[in-house]
Amino acid sequence: MELRFLTKPKKTSLLIYPVFEKEKAGNAALRKILAELAAAREFEAKSEQTFFLFGKAGNLPMRVILLGLGEAKKLNIASVMSAFGAAIKKSAAHRSKEIGVLLNKELYPFAEAIGEALVMGSYQPSAAYKTGKALNKLRGQSVKTLEIVGVAKKDIQSAFRKGVAVANAVNEVRDWVNAPPNFANAKFFDDKAAEIAKETGAKLTILRKKELEKLGMGALLGVNRGSPDEARLTILDYSPNSADPKEPPLVFVGKGILFDSGGYNLKPRGYIEDMQLDKAGAAAVLALIKLAQKLGIAKRIIAVAPFTENLIGGHALKPSEILKTYSGKTVEITNTDGEGRLVLADAIAYAIDQFKPKYLIDVATLTGACMVALGDRYAGLFGNDENLIEKLRAAGEEVDELLWPMPLHKDHNKKMKGVYADLRNADLGSERDAGASKGAAFLQEFIGKTKWAHLDIAGPAWTGDPKKYETKGATGFGVRVLVRFLENNG
Ligand code: BES
Ligand code: ZN
Ligand code: ZN
Repeated sequence: MELRFLTKPKKTSLLIYPVFEKEKAGNAALRKILAELAAAREFEAKSEQTFFLFGKAGNLPMRVILLGLGEAKKLNIASVMSAFGAAIKKSAAHRSKEIGVLLNKELYPFAEAIGEALVMGSYQPSAAYKTGKALNKLRGQSVKTLEIVGVAKKDIQSAFRKGVAVANAVNEVRDWVNAPPNFANAKFFDDKAAEIAKETGAKLTILRKKELEKLGMGALLGVNRGSPDEARLTILDYSPNSADPKEPPLVFVGKGILFDSGGYNLKPRGYIEDMQLDKAGAAAVLALIKLAQKLGIAKRIIAVAPFTENLIGGHALKPSEILKTYSGKTVEITNTDGEGRLVLADAIAYAIDQFKPKYLIDVATLTGACMVALGDRYAGLFGNDENLIEKLRAAGEEVDELLWPMPLHKDHNKKMKGVYADLRNADLGSERDAGASKGAAFLQEFIGKTKWAHLDIAGPAWTGDPKKYETKGATGFGVRVLVRFLENNG
């Protein structure tokens, strides 16, 4: 999508024209139309309301989408993003390739969020799997050019540009996460990581079976045994010259289960279908490296992503097995569907050993329990450092990717002690009780004294009830909150 800044709307484009409730603005012809529409209760500029106008209103283009923003004083990030998401979706229905967007001064403080909402709202699930008429239809709906009208100030333009860049990364993450496991396999992410390395100058390391064996990553290898593809531990080390060499790196670890069948504790119908989503954490941390470079974040940032499928088969992991993790701690497998914590255990312990981070943040679609507790609006937020937790929570609020602090108690850790081994990966018999906290407690066993936060994104990574700037399926959750956290000097 191309981005242009214009002083006047292009007559042939479809123009998104924001209107505040109870406000009399615009040219005389438009004012008259707005008054008539309000009287007829067709369009009252309530938030997210849209109305398609055809025919010249004064000097405006032929095709205009009036966009309600509600009352100016009640504007907030969520309402602005929803409204512009609604508008761009509406414009897609009119099959316009060139979209103008009028930005009045009141909207300048939201320029970045509007850029995000417009680009995120114009996301369409990949056309790669369609052919013929269905493919043409999808192509016909994609926006080619965005023309922003009324923004001469350079700083507002660059805020908008930044929103667009972030949203492009979010959309890419959505593509990766939506992609089924026969497309988005281990090789796919090898290639993506290589592309990111090339683009950003980050150093790429991909550890495969032989190296993982040498390092003793029995947990990641154990989960991998049912898969025909080798596991990977993919590491992107972004170390710009601008970073302070005395500051330890910031490490982000993402769960990359390419498909979670549950393993021998097989997921039933209704739970297994969308389990390509289980790589959402890994996708988010890889994209973060790309954005760190694009936005010029002057910090050494390392993304670590363990990739494997969780499948069944003659070699696959079985309940009752005991695995030795990279850390040396042993784990008895009480449930093969608790695979995320296993692959993360090795990735986390290794990352801490290797990089001695300032702090480590992991992002994972870890537990169904967290989804049950918080739904698709909030991710669960855990950790061992109040300051880090609060910074993440605040960043989430700023960009409306919400994180809710969840309890982590030593009794949760107790429940994860093994009967035969040091630990067990699921609290047998009552997996679901406090499942999110116990998942976090298991991870904590591999953290030691490092400052740490854990984002359980099982709920918001995927949605059946999309917001105005989302579509069904992958949301790209995590990217925006982590970027903002980094920008706030996290
Ligand atoms: N990938 C799932 C969690 C999940 C469920 C993510 C639904 C998104 C939507 C994870 O690997 C899992 O199955 N966790 C188990 C843990 C249990 C066996 C301790 C769960 O949540 O039931
Ligand atoms: Zn699972
Ligand atoms: Zn999983």
